[in-house]
Amino acid sequence: MLERLDRLPVDPILGLMAAFRADADARKVDLGVGVYRDDRGDTPVVQAVRQAEQAVLARQTTKTYVAPAGNPGFNQAMERLVLGDGHPALAGGRVRTIQSPGGCGALRLGAELVRVASPKSVVHVSTPTWANHVPLLSGSGLELARYPYFDPATGAVNFEAMLGTLDKLPARSVVLIHASCHNPTGADLSDEQWRDLLPVFKARGLLPFIDMAYQGLGAGITEDAFGIRLFSAELPEALVAVSCSKNFGLYRERTGALLAISESTGAGDAELSQLVRIARSIYSMPPDHGAAIVLEILSNDSLTRLWTDELSRMRARIRGLRDDLVKELAAALPERSFGFIATQRGMFSYLGIEPSQVRELREKHHVYMTDDSRMNVAGLRTENIAYFANAVAQVLNR
Ligand code: LMR
Repeated sequence: MLERLDRLPVDPILGLMAAFRADADARKVDLGVGVYRDDRGDTPVVQAVRQAEQAVLARQTTKTYVAPAGNPGFNQAMERLVLGDGHPALAGGRVRTIQSPGGCGALRLGAELVRVASPKSVVHVSTPTWANHVPLLSGSGLELARYPYFDPATGAVNFEAMLGTLDKLPARSVVLIHASCHNPTGADLSDEQWRDLLPVFKARGLLPFIDMAYQGLGAGITEDAFGIRLFSAELPEALVAVSCSKNFGLYRERTGALLAISESTGAGDAELSQLVRIARSIYSMPPDHGAAIVLEILSNDSLTRLWTDELSRMRARIRGLRDDLVKELAAALPERSFGFIATQRGMFSYLGIEPSQVRELREKHHVYMTDDSRMNVAGLRTENIAYFANAVAQVLNR
């Protein structure tokens, strides 16, 4: 019965991760999968995580199930981290949260919830968006469409085109927006632009579905959540998918949450009951370990400080790498401008070269990035930025 299944190509991002691991050349540069790396090229366990993990394990007396919506303490801690203490939606009892297997799990739960509530709603995603958004969201059965977002000529958001498209959508359309550190472009909405989007969502009855996979890695913990906090305060409904993979470095522990902001406490209770049923029908309950670690960090002042300091250092390193990369590219390729890389935020930027040139970089220079020329800037090391810039110059000047 199963023998006729077609063999599928490898995932564009995860396939690159395997290819990089298999490359034995000492000069290899990994700008592929979006994980944070230090200047040695390692992704070490975050110190606060290591300490919290020891405390969690020392106290743990059982491995029995936690609860259908996950760890309630973790869910509350995530609400405060995402929305900020005293947020009006929290004060009004309008927020319900379910722990999820990573940000991916949260995205899928949100899409499944929309599908139950409004199966004909279309989910609009940015052009471009993270490759995995498409299967994650459309796997629910919802239809997907695109709105314009990135302007390759400026390296920034084409806000007029975005606004113009959203301003024509029918009520009950769902709009997926990246909270910060847009993946794959690094081009973020300014606070002003979030404010300008708000009346369009209000007037047209659109549902914002905001994906926050990089809180704290762009401009700061509070700054990166600006749009979420604004929309959750001002709109009757919103969905927010959150990941702890990057900012807590918990990638393999699959730790995330879906926050559902609703018009009333009654609607919120109904939404949570639906989410719990959806989760039960897919994977029953989320894994516990990562959530227990995050709760330990966020409920202990000294661990919270240790974590925020570490996160600030990660953010500063990425910003420094962006500036250094612009300098090295300017030296290697004076005729081309790469200044946009320094204005973008988070781990990713498009280098802006052709897929054939990306392949040449990989085959001749052992530099790994996805075919659309998305670079994970955090994969650079002080010692190989010049090597990378010269490799790019060789490929482009051929
Ligand atoms: C990425 O975009 O590289 C990361 O979010 C990892 C992934 O799962 O694709």
